[in-house]
Amino acid sequence: MSYQLNKDKIIDILKANENLSHIKDVDSLLDHVLYEARTITNADAGSIYLKKGEKLSFEYVQNDTLMKKDSSSNKHIYKKQEIPINNESIAGYAALNKTDVMIDDVYQLGRNVPYTFNRSFDESSSYHTQSILTVPLMTTREKLIGVMQIINAKDERGRVLPFSQYDKHLVALFANQAASAIERAQMTREIILRMIKIAEMRDPEETGPHVNRVGAICIEIYQRWAARNRVQSSEIKKVKDILRISAMLHDVGKVAISDAILKKKSRLSNKEREIMKFHTVYGARLFKESDSDWDDMAAEIALNHHEKWNGTGYPGYIRDIYNDTISIGPGKKGHEIPLPARIVALADVYDALMSNRSYKNPWPEEKVIDFISAEKHKHFDPELVDTFMEIYDIIKAIREKYSH
Ligand SMILES: [Fe+2]
Ligand SMILES: [Fe+2]
Repeated sequence: MSYQLNKDKIIDILKANENLSHIKDVDSLLDHVLYEARTITNADAGSIYLKKGEKLSFEYVQNDTLMKKDSSSNKHIYKKQEIPINNESIAGYAALNKTDVMIDDVYQLGRNVPYTFNRSFDESSSYHTQSILTVPLMTTREKLIGVMQIINAKDERGRVLPFSQYDKHLVALFANQAASAIERAQMTREIILRMIKIAEMRDPEETGPHVNRVGAICIEIYQRWAARNRVQSSEIKKVKDILRISAMLHDVGKVAISDAILKKKSRLSNKEREIMKFHTVYGARLFKESDSDWDDMAAEIALNHHEKWNGTGYPGYIRDIYNDTISIGPGKKGHEIPLPARIVALADVYDALMSNRSYKNPWPEEKVIDFISAEKHKHFDPELVDTFMEIYDIIKAIREKYSH
């Protein structure tokens, strides 16, 4: 029996490893890594910390029990927490000593261990952590990327029990590949953020925190929308992986707009405003060269993120985005506007209104919410506005996490 089990489990791990190489976005990858590690060990919950400088930053959490109780428990993902890499915490100890730590009951730690269990998550979420398996995420070149914690192993009847040595070996087998994949995705994210930095040098309104928030808000709106519309989970995963990065690049086409317009302090003239509208087309041109799913979505979003549900947006249908004599308008309407662009439109306007801009102070939150409700059916897709309101506490948590 045990041989068969081993073989099956190991095949599962090999398959899981193979899937890792297709994922582009860091968060999608963390989601996947944690899910696979929990599946291998039949664990209820888990979290991932990533190494940021000399600290560990809490980056991802999954928790089946909390998710069942409250579907907005996704907000825990956006908790902002950093812990030092030292012997005081379990994760810190695993990172510092590059070793795994297996604990049967965190509320009954032995006297001879240097670390203590941090109860803050249990206390704020009323979850009960019991058994923990903590593994450092090390690349094949022995570089520490972060720490993964798998929490509360369960038997077939759902009762919590300690992790086994066998679990530990299986997770270790998987953790190495996972660390290398995370490192690669982090590099992709870095390059994207650098592209955004270039755009930011030209257009100081389009900042790193703004695009991080827009990316994260879009993912959450999409996820809830997809659940409402019973989209298959494989499709949801695929879209989430490329939506965040594409959404972050919505305004990158502004690099092609002249400083005289982009940096003008006073009101733009009608002619200047017309020229500004071309940032949508320039953005689309940047991504249309190649034809991966990711490029397609990035081009779609860049081109359509200023369209409005009632048809009063821009740039409308454009036959050939490379043509030198493009004329703008009339706008696309309703479902003619691609879904990712409808989502970005809402997330982008919300975040811009909540933020300080050269031409305005942040609006009070209530006024922003009233505005978004009033623009339902006008600027925004009504179903997306409903979705947005349903997950508003998650959106607030995102604003906290990416506050600067
Ligand atoms: Fe824009
Ligand atoms: Fe924006």
